[in-house]
Amino acid sequence: MKSQNSPNPELSLIVPTYCERQNIATLIERVHQSLSRYSYELIVVDDNSPDGTSELAKSLTQKYPVRVITRRNERGLASAVVDGFKQAKGEIFGVIDADLQHPPEILPELLKEIRNGAGVIIASRYVEGGGSEGWSVKRKIVSKGSKLLAQLLLPSIRGIKDPLSGFFLLRRKVIDGVALSPTGYKILLEVLVRGKPSEVAEVPYVLRERERGESNLNAGEGINYLKHLYRLAGSGGTIRFIKFCLVGLSGVLVNEGLLWMLTEGLGLYYVLSAAIAIETAILTNFILNDIWTFRDRRSPGIQSVLRRALKFNLVSIAGLGINMAILLTFTEVLGISYLISNLIGIAGATLWNFTINASWTWRAKPRGEPALEG
Ligand code: GDD
Ligand code: MN
Repeated sequence: MKSQNSPNPELSLIVPTYCERQNIATLIERVHQSLSRYSYELIVVDDNSPDGTSELAKSLTQKYPVRVITRRNERGLASAVVDGFKQAKGEIFGVIDADLQHPPEILPELLKEIRNGAGVIIASRYVEGGGSEGWSVKRKIVSKGSKLLAQLLLPSIRGIKDPLSGFFLLRRKVIDGVALSPTGYKILLEVLVRGKPSEVAEVPYVLRERERGESNLNAGEGINYLKHLYRLAGSGGTIRFIKFCLVGLSGVLVNEGLLWMLTEGLGLYYVLSAAIAIETAILTNFILNDIWTFRDRRSPGIQSVLRRALKFNLVSIAGLGINMAILLTFTEVLGISYLISNLIGIAGATLWNFTINASWTWRAKPRGEPALEG
């Protein structure tokens, strides 16, 4: 069978597919042209696409060094790639989309770069010479916003220009023994944060427009993305996060109640009432988080409490800004209902507030070191 498969290829290229019947044959052919001088295997990981992608790919395994994994009980780009990694034989792994948006012609250049010693080579839209063809303003904003949020929450990827690329190579050793469990689309983020490669380099490419078939990206992926970021940021644990959300909810009640009382009871102008209500809610939130959510991380002393209160205030105000920015973008640019946009805004801001407070306001004390402040 698979006459072309070499037993120990240098590169294992993973191609996740869902309904790519119209693209997969062209992709395989173009990869083969581009890698004719290299030893490689191409692993298609298909989630049992109803359009027959698996069957078509299987019919090409005689002619090309291709293997096909058909998953019947699972869906998802990133988890498909992880399953591909598990079957890969090469010392270098690669990931490329099937829809021809990622040009296979730059694979030799990526290989050359990784042979120079880097752990991960990213085909990047955001280094000089790179770009995205025919992207609407809408998509550009979502892409940049997603990237910004990731960089705010995950310090280790701040220097990387395109941490959300779907086209990259890595050395097997970067993820050897590392448990990968991404939710959603962004497998590279998982590799970078959990694999902690020592050297990452980026090579420019232009993301082409999809000519055939449809993108599988939808609104649900937005939520998956936030979940993924939350898990990668992992600064406090789930119980703590739930406590933090409950405190936040109590703050909403304080805010609404006070707004009503000050406006109706004292006859204040409602905007003034709102300002007072917001600040009061920030303070009650602070107190509850200080004595409950993060009680194990408090250092004693009035100065230290004040310092935490100030930090918490600053984080909350920035969080408010994030909420507004998401609300405006999703409503004005994406045309999503403002009520839904606001929910997404609240989710984004909560993620920000929790992560930054857990790593700054109530930073975990290094083990064995007593609290010095006071
Ligand atoms: N196995 C499997 N299962 N594959 C999937 C699934 C799934 O549930 N969903 C999508 N794919 C495959 C598609 O068939 C395609 O080969 C690839 O994953 C990318 O899917 P698209 O739907 O075309 O994604 P996109 O174009 O919106 O986004 C891509 O490009 C971005 C920019 O580089 C992705 O690669 C993103 O991760 C990337 O950020
Ligand atoms: Mn695509």
